[in-house]
Amino acid sequence: MRNCPIGVFDSGLGGVSVLRNMHALLPKEDFIYFGDDKNAPYGTKTEEEILRLAVNDANFLLQKNVKAIVIACNTATSAAAAHLRQTLSIPVIGMEPALKPASLARKNGYIGVLATPATLKQKKFQLLYEKYGSHALPIPCPGLMEYAERGILEGEEIDLFLNELLKPYRNVPLDSAVLGCTHYVFLKGAIQKALVGVELFDGNEGTARQLKRVLEERNWLKDEGEGSVSMHTSGDEAHILPLMQSLFREKIL
Ligand code: DGL
Repeated sequence: MRNCPIGVFDSGLGGVSVLRNMHALLPKEDFIYFGDDKNAPYGTKTEEEILRLAVNDANFLLQKNVKAIVIACNTATSAAAAHLRQTLSIPVIGMEPALKPASLARKNGYIGVLATPATLKQKKFQLLYEKYGSHALPIPCPGLMEYAERGILEGEEIDLFLNELLKPYRNVPLDSAVLGCTHYVFLKGAIQKALVGVELFDGNEGTARQLKRVLEERNWLKDEGEGSVSMHTSGDEAHILPLMQSLFREKIL
């Protein structure tokens, strides 16, 4: 098992932001990334539909003989992690909006939780909210991930979109904001510009550490040779793969 690759999937290229953390932490591992760009976005679909798509994504990776699967997508984690853990014999690692660290670091204000409508609606988030959400404000962001999918990480168009999206929350004193969708990590610069002075949290590093822990426990960490990364998409390869590769190298705030 030790020398098998690690499979990673997302609805599109947002999970590449998690892949970066995992590759930096585990440089000897081989990673296979699958983005279901053809069916993105997941965040405005029903739970049943997201589950069905996530099972297809996992099947793509299983064919590549992966030793673990990372669901680098908050939306698909909520809809499908429990099912995949029940049905697969390899470890399945998921994402969680970083509400816990944000609530531990909270001073006086509120915590905005930016995520897809599906993530905020699902049971998994409701449970997290009951535990750490006493000062949390869920902010559904339909349409936001599409900017990352199109490679638009900054500029006037996204600034206008974010200002409009965040208008109803202007009077709420925010201490921090949780980026509860892996695509939003690539949009950090634009989001920070729209939320001046607000501290941003994401769950990427936590997921990378969890992957390492899980592999360590099984003694499945690859400990020799240089790791590799291969990327796949269900979408337009000629357009998406170069974008994924440049996002893999992109400097993030
Ligand atoms: N990247 C995803 C997430 O973390 C989902 C975006 C979408 O497909 O709507 O939630």
